[in-house]
Amino acid sequence: MKQFFRITVLAAAALAAPLAMAQGSKLKVGLMLPYTGTYAALGVAIENGFRLYVQEQGGKLGGREIEFVKVDDESDPSKATDNVNKLVKRDNVDVIVGTVHSGVVAAMAKVARDTGTMLIVPNAGAGVVTGAMCAPHIFRSSFSNWQPAYAMGEVAAKKGHKTAVTITHKYAAGDESVGAFKEAFEKGGGKVVKQLSLPFPGVEFQALLTEIAAAKPDAVYTFFAGGAAVKFVKDYATAGLKKGIPLYGPGFLTDGTLEAQGADAEGLFTTLHYGDSLNTPRDNAFRLAYAKAFKLQPDVYAVQGYDAGQVLGIGLAATKGDISKKADFAAAVEKTRIDSPRGAFSISKAHNPVQDIYLRQVVGKENKVIGVASKGLTDPALGCKM
Ligand code: PHB
Repeated sequence: MKQFFRITVLAAAALAAPLAMAQGSKLKVGLMLPYTGTYAALGVAIENGFRLYVQEQGGKLGGREIEFVKVDDESDPSKATDNVNKLVKRDNVDVIVGTVHSGVVAAMAKVARDTGTMLIVPNAGAGVVTGAMCAPHIFRSSFSNWQPAYAMGEVAAKKGHKTAVTITHKYAAGDESVGAFKEAFEKGGGKVVKQLSLPFPGVEFQALLTEIAAAKPDAVYTFFAGGAAVKFVKDYATAGLKKGIPLYGPGFLTDGTLEAQGADAEGLFTTLHYGDSLNTPRDNAFRLAYAKAFKLQPDVYAVQGYDAGQVLGIGLAATKGDISKKADFAAAVEKTRIDSPRGAFSISKAHNPVQDIYLRQVVGKENKVIGVASKGLTDPALGCKM
């Protein structure tokens, strides 16, 4: 009897051990972001935002201390599978947080699905992530490429523009952004008369700007971000186009870039799920904390990184730090309204934010919010079966 009792106690202890370990040990977060290249500043802002949220929680989520490992993905799709495997197979991370580039995230979603590793996407808008590749353990804290673009198509049509030329880097994000703009613009009575592009991450815009001048459209719609957005806005003004042909885009065109763009960005209208002048207590507190911690002004990327931290925090709180409980993690995230600096939002069944898209205008060094272009906009999540 004594022997049986001892065995039972030992067996119970052995069973409890993994749980105790899971709760007591550090949780490894693998940050896969661009730290070099045209999107480098975006990667830094995302990491800062994520770290700020973890710091505010005392360095722990769901009772577990957070440990970071990092990979610079260089926004290079050809290296993406190797890079994500470094985190999953070499470093054994518990969760991957990344990335910015839509071509890179597709490889990440595949590895996350194949290995069952939790993935939280803090930027890349590729439709497949919360469409055909959606999964219970894949989440996005940012947007789909469709969302701000569709909202801008409606805005441009309502402004009475009849013809538009589009220009973007030729890859998934640009193609999807232009596609969604066209969908809404043409539904509203406009016509996209020409679609221009150049390979990512090229910035030789001159010949394309000459084509725009020759086509004389009512408006131009563009998807560029980071360093390329800085150069495009400056080149558009220098070419003399800004005076005659209004330039529109999703807010990536002017977010985190205004210092460098200066007067060339003044007056531009963009659509995005964030802006600089929301002036809500929640956003003011976030902006102050971010500026204090990093001596930088936050932008949309910082917010998305912060909210990726919130998604992880909500899931881990519900599972008491046990990230293997994927269904419980997902259920908690799906039923919580996330208290974001952008304004509260929810996560759809496909795990993409359902959120307001603001209309903003550049005034000085700010993307001033001048209204809501689309309220509670949901991505169509084509092909998602969950
Ligand atoms: C993307 O590749 O999905 C992407 C990159 C930069 C942005 C937005 C989307 O600012």
